[in-house]
Order: sequence, then C-alpha cells, then structure tokens
Amino acid sequence: MIPIITIDGPSGSGKGTLACRLAQRLGFHLLDSGALYRLTALAAKKQQIDLVSPQVAAIAEALNVRFDADGAAFLDEVCIDSVLRTEQTGAMASQIAARADVRAALLARQRAFAKAPGLVADGRDMGTVVFTDAKAKFFLDASAEIRAERRYKQLIGNGLSANLAALIEEIQARDDRDRNRAIAPLIPAPDALVIDSTLLTIEAVEAQMMDFIRAKGVIT
Ligand code: C5P
Repeated sequence: MIPIITIDGPSGSGKGTLACRLAQRLGFHLLDSGALYRLTALAAKKQQIDLVSPQVAAIAEALNVRFDADGAAFLDEVCIDSVLRTEQTGAMASQIAARADVRAALLARQRAFAKAPGLVADGRDMGTVVFTDAKAKFFLDASAEIRAERRYKQLIGNGLSANLAALIEEIQARDDRDRNRAIAPLIPAPDALVIDSTLLTIEAVEAQMMDFIRAKGVIT
C-alpha cells in the first residue's frame, strides 16, 4: 500500500505551499491536481474550443502535460507556468471542473501519481473522491480576506499583476462555484483533520499536520 496524504481546501488556504513542504520533507511525490484542471482549460482555449463544449473532456483525456523537477508545467512541451497560475486561468478551470465528464477524464491520470515511496496530493476532492483510502487527510481553510491577501502576495511574487479588491471578489466567486457544484464539491472528507489557518503561520500548520501524519502511522 502506497501511503497517500491528501490536502483539500479553497484557494489561498495554504494547501499548495504545505503540500510542497510535506512532499519535500517526507521525500514523497507531489500532485497539484488544480494544475490539471487549469491545463485542460488552457488547452481548450488554445484550440479555440468553448469551455461548455463536450470536446473539453476529450482534451482532458488527451492532455500532453509534463511537470519538471521544480513543478513547472509544460503543455505540448511548452512551459506555460506563468499563465497557468493567473486568477483568470483559475476561473476557467473552475468552470470546466464543475463537469462530470471532465472530472472523470482526469481521474486515472491523478491516481497514476500514487507511486512509492508515497504521495502528497492537493486539490478540492483528493480525500473525498480521488484517494478515498488515503492514510492522512487534511482540509485547510482560512477567512476569505486572508486567503485573498495570500493569493495577492503569491501572484505579485510570481511577477503577475493583481488587484486586491478584484481578487477578493474573484476568489469568492470561484470558491462558491467549487463549494456548491453537484459533483465533487469542496467539502471536508468525514475523516479529514480540519485546520483553520487564518491566524496560524505555515510552520504552525505544518507542525499540526506532522503530528496527525505520525498519529495515522504514515511515518514513524
Ligand atoms: O487549486 P487551484 O486553484 O489550482 O484549482 C483551480 C480550480 O480547479 C479550482 O478552483 C477548482 O474548480 C478546480 N479543481 C477541482 N478539483 C481539484 C483541484 C482543482 O475541481 N482536485
């Protein structure tokens, strides 16, 4: 059995950062599942296919994607990491992510990331749908304001432009769609440890996660 750790939560909750830190610390593989939804949306746009077209599922299925050792994403062998992380791409990803055919098309690709010695997977439905028998599941949350602030800093840090007021609205709209969709909505798995990171540092959240990971016997 390959040990799997899942981290779900809304955007800006810190799940991407923590998934990365835990994967490095434990020497596990990393799955940034949101990147696959973002890449699918970008591939559809590149082929001038409407996001509501049934063809989007076929695009998800055939996606020619590769991540390098630093996690940078390549679509058809072209590095598209900067456009991948914009809030506009996030909004497009969230539209196609509400569709059952697209989610089904990405399922096997996500599960294929589970390889020895282990996997840390972050997203919206890692613990509830994709890796239901994961050994340690987390759900990270934080207030909408702090999440928008974190996303703002992240976008600026990546050299992208951002407007905090607009970002708060965009993030809220995306999260509402992710939480209220019929298929694989953003909710904590019943066996997930829920952590509200609003008032916590990354280090404090990581410490809580490591305690839970040890308690669940993922590592000794
Ligand atoms: O995590 P990230 O912000 O990159 O995800 C972009 C969008 O992809 C999310 O807003 C969500 O709609 C979708 N997503 C999803 N399920 C996942 C990961 C991401 O529906 N496991």
